[in-house]
Amino acid sequence: MGRESTEQRGLGKNWTAEKYIETSVKEIRATVGDGKVLLALSGGVDSSVVAALLVKAIGKQLYCVHVNHGLLRKGEPEEVVEVFRNQMDANLIYVDASERFLSKLAGVSDPEKKRKIIGKEFIDVFAEEAAKLNGISFLAQGTIYPDITESKGVKSHHNVGGLPKELNFKLVEPVRMLYKDEVRALGKALGLPDTMVYRQPFPGPGLGVRCIGAITKDRLEAVRESDAIVREEFAKSGLSGKVWQYFTVVPDIKSTGIIDGKRSWDWPVIIRAVNSVDATSATIEDIPYPVLHRITDRILSEVKGVNRVLYDLSPKPVSTIEWE
Ligand code: XMP
Repeated sequence: MGRESTEQRGLGKNWTAEKYIETSVKEIRATVGDGKVLLALSGGVDSSVVAALLVKAIGKQLYCVHVNHGLLRKGEPEEVVEVFRNQMDANLIYVDASERFLSKLAGVSDPEKKRKIIGKEFIDVFAEEAAKLNGISFLAQGTIYPDITESKGVKSHHNVGGLPKELNFKLVEPVRMLYKDEVRALGKALGLPDTMVYRQPFPGPGLGVRCIGAITKDRLEAVRESDAIVREEFAKSGLSGKVWQYFTVVPDIKSTGIIDGKRSWDWPVIIRAVNSVDATSATIEDIPYPVLHRITDRILSEVKGVNRVLYDLSPKPVSTIEWE
């Protein structure tokens, strides 16, 4: 579907992020009054921008809940706490539910079962936190325009974050008429760091679908550490703004290697870097060989339990972007 103009979406002709923020702040205040608003803050672009907008509009009447399901990327929960609690002085409830998620996922190898468990557990943890708070009447959500218009959009069939209807809150969706780039423009204008505003897409089940098969702590650590190396090296080489999505996958197979004259029996790490517009199809980015060599060297020397690095050259279709 083609992009609708700001006029078609009822936002007027000369849309700017600054003016939108001003109007939106007034509207949020009028809607919420002195009520309390709850928000599941994942640290993704949409929920982060909604959080920043609501902090500006209603300050401490907003309660953000950040659920760390243990499948986030390296440094992500820390960044959410730093930006929202320390810099923006928001009410932030940080829940470390990593152990709980990992124990529910133990031994589960079917990708769709893994997704269901992660989704259900997320809602349960969020609902438990909501139940501890008194007097909440609104639920804020980072719904954006493509979520509403694209019936086959990524989120509609994928997202973990469909929140508990039984909580029975009134919805506050301040970016529901905006496209992603407009949401990013709001984020910039609201002072969010570029690492949040220009983040690559990250699936709700997180690293869980990149640790193939039944998740184990050590293999999950290998995914997290190798992903951090790829992101660091992409940033250093100026690739992070150019490539749509890039990450690593650790399958549950082992192969032989050799280290200090001894045979090893360890996992491979697979690098994936794709370009896409809307995730329905994807092409492979030609990463310069020196960058791939550097990443390979670093993964082999820094990541425990890994003795081989591969580069996935498969476009979508035939492959999907994620391995699960
Ligand atoms: P696939 O693997 O289907 O991925 O080519 C397309 C895009 O969707 C993301 N993705 C997900 N996002 N929950 C999400 O929120 C999910 O379960 C999920 N699975 C895949 C993927 O990262 C890519 O951007």
